[in-house]
Amino acid sequence: MTDRPHVKPAEGRLGILLPGFGAVATTVVAGVEAARKGLAKPIGSVTQMQTIRLGKRTDGRAPLIKDFVSLTPLEDIVFGAWDPIPDDGYESARVAGVLDRHHIDAMEDFLRSVKPMPAVFDKNYVRRLDGPNVKTGSSKFELAQQLREDIQRFKAEHDCARLVMVWCGSTEIFLRPGAVHETLESFEAAMKANDDAIAPSMIYAYAAIMEGVPYANGAPNLSADIPALEKEAKKRGIPIGGKDFKTGQTLMKTILAPGFKARMLGIDGWFSTNILGNRDGEVLDDPDSFKTKEESKLSVLDNILQPEMYPDLYGNLYHKVRINYYPPRGDNKEGWDNIDIRGWMGYTMQIKVDFLCRDSILAAPIVLDLALFLDLASRAGMGGVQEWLSFYFKSPQTLPGLYAEHDIFIQHRKLKNTLRWMGGEEPLTHLGQDYDPHGAEDE
Ligand SMILES: NC(=O)c1ccc[n+]([C@@H]2O[C@H](COP(=O)([O-])OP(=O)(O)OC[C@H]3O[C@@H](n4cnc5c(N)ncnc54)[C@H](O)[C@@H]3O)[C@@H](O)[C@H]2O)c1
Repeated sequence: MTDRPHVKPAEGRLGILLPGFGAVATTVVAGVEAARKGLAKPIGSVTQMQTIRLGKRTDGRAPLIKDFVSLTPLEDIVFGAWDPIPDDGYESARVAGVLDRHHIDAMEDFLRSVKPMPAVFDKNYVRRLDGPNVKTGSSKFELAQQLREDIQRFKAEHDCARLVMVWCGSTEIFLRPGAVHETLESFEAAMKANDDAIAPSMIYAYAAIMEGVPYANGAPNLSADIPALEKEAKKRGIPIGGKDFKTGQTLMKTILAPGFKARMLGIDGWFSTNILGNRDGEVLDDPDSFKTKEESKLSVLDNILQPEMYPDLYGNLYHKVRINYYPPRGDNKEGWDNIDIRGWMGYTMQIKVDFLCRDSILAAPIVLDLALFLDLASRAGMGGVQEWLSFYFKSPQTLPGLYAEHDIFIQHRKLKNTLRWMGGEEPLTHLGQDYDPHGAEDE
């Protein structure tokens, strides 16, 4: 095994920078403050609530993760944001409609104190949106320099020891990685030439990496998932991760599909449809933004089920995903799944899932965990793509040449074993052959 890294302690303030200050971002900001004030528990957050078993079952050692590895306490977190819409945290949370008034009113002063900085925004990449709070500059490269200055200023003004950035901005139109994304030189030249292949989310990722700030992408657009930025992040020792927070329907899919496969049940079809009415839903109503999302959602089943290895079970699987913008529902999405499965002797069965979920309530703890774990990875000197954080993503970024792992149980084991390794403990194999059958434990 590779030597365990030396992890520097989480001393001083951590600034969490959020490009995109809409439903998800304001929900995480409000939730952290609510936890600090004792108004609510950080439910759904692995860093805040989960324990980690160390050693043998008979050892009885299972501390909270946050007591086992050095993580920034919630009290030491400060937030910054960028958004083309100038609403402060209070106004934005009200518009998003995720949280009840009694929650946001109880934290009005704090929420109002987070005001988005002018964004690097271009309507060509998110067609259903517009806003006045935007930067101007002669080139995309110049805009990146402005972001870098924002980052430096924020760090100084808020007396931060460290920063992380998590993209909570809208889903951009579908782009394929191309020649300009290959090297840092070609990427910078393309920014200077205002090349269409450089989307705003890439400019934020570039600015973060150049400023030594770990970066995670919560949306499905490419952003840091291009060779130029991956290589630069690795070279500079900056942890990065993406893409697309794993919430709602895809979370259910990656919980259910590994179970069917473990029991060798066949699947003929999986039809997923959603209605949602928030701003994200409006953006995804644009076919080009939806295509980015669709690619992200579709890749999941193939990877888990491995139809090439199990043609009798999954060779003819028909997988369809629809998202429908339906304003009356707001952020309270409804996702239906119809799963046509096949059992012994080929007999067919059906499973229906109707998930009345709250998207941003599921996404907010992911933002917090990613920020804290990326900061941990940074203090451990672990640069480049952090595959152990795949647990949080619909379409995980991988190391070059590797396929993405989507099975949430494998992802979870990998996450916890990585934490054990960082903390100088043995990974768990669950083999259990070294327990004495008469009760006394072998050494
Ligand atoms: N809520 C979930 O469960 C979930 C799950 C997976 C992914 N996501 C993704 O997370 C992102 C945020 O979701 P949301 O529900 O908060 O959406 P939202 O529409 O409420 O917020 C997105 C915000 O990003 C801003 N924005 C757009 N382009 C920007 C730019 N270039 N710079 C700065 N800000 C910009 C918008 O003005 C908006 O306020 C979306 O891309 C969404 O697809 C959300």
